[in-house]
Amino acid sequence: SRIGVVLVAAGRGERLGAGKPKAFVELGGRTLVEHCLRTVTSLPSGGHLVIVVPEHLAGETLRLVAAAEPTGANWEVSVTPGGRERHESVKFGVDALPEYADVVLVHDAARPLTPAALFARVTAEVRRTTDAVIPALPVVDTLKRVGADSIVHETVDRAPLVAVQTPQGFPRELLAAAHDRLGTGAHDAADHPTDDAEVVQRAGGTVRTVPGESLAHKLTTPGDLALLEALLAAQNG
Ligand code: CTP
Ligand code: MG
Repeated sequence: SRIGVVLVAAGRGERLGAGKPKAFVELGGRTLVEHCLRTVTSLPSGGHLVIVVPEHLAGETLRLVAAAEPTGANWEVSVTPGGRERHESVKFGVDALPEYADVVLVHDAARPLTPAALFARVTAEVRRTTDAVIPALPVVDTLKRVGADSIVHETVDRAPLVAVQTPQGFPRELLAAAHDRLGTGAHDAADHPTDDAEVVQRAGGTVRTVPGESLAHKLTTPGDLALLEALLAAQNG
């Protein structure tokens, strides 16, 4: 059955420092939003994709959508303005989805090379378990706990630790109820959830993992742009 996808693209991209919001930066001649748009609308389930963007870029986003090659006819695409914090942008996106979307995937536009197979893997596990499902990769570096004085306190056991990605998938009701519970009011800056699985966990939901993908790498700093360009070039052989 048809799914809902919330593509969050309303951040400012301050750490990248490209002079414009990160989702509108180009990688291999296409904006990050366009990369994600093409991947999502290639998914055979069909459904509704809502792209959450800075308000002043809503018109430009609609033009990008209109200019995209015709894809699966079973996809509808809409554009909606985001909020100050990521979790607010997600809530606005979920609220904009049509009723029929019983499974919702939330995806960062900042992960432009995420393969369609990962969207399918997450969706299948949500349907199988009716729990929240997130992609996770083992942590490979040695981890240390460091004090404010830059002195190492200890090495942290990495065996139980994973790095998590998007798309994160949820039964729609579970995600909507968890975000309603959190609300969009002022929160302590340190208390902002940085992903949706955290929002669901705070509401008491169970979160499961599936294997992630190195291609789902997030664009955060200028160094990531070089890495993603290389990954894209390698893909295009
Ligand atoms: N995001 C959003 N609305 C916000 C903040 C973030 O839709 N108010 C989105 C971003 O567009 C991005 C994803 O959430 O696709 C992950 O956030 P992050 O990597 O932090 O992106 P930015 O907030 O844009 O970057 P920065 O924190 O460096 O400003
Ligand atoms: Mg941010």
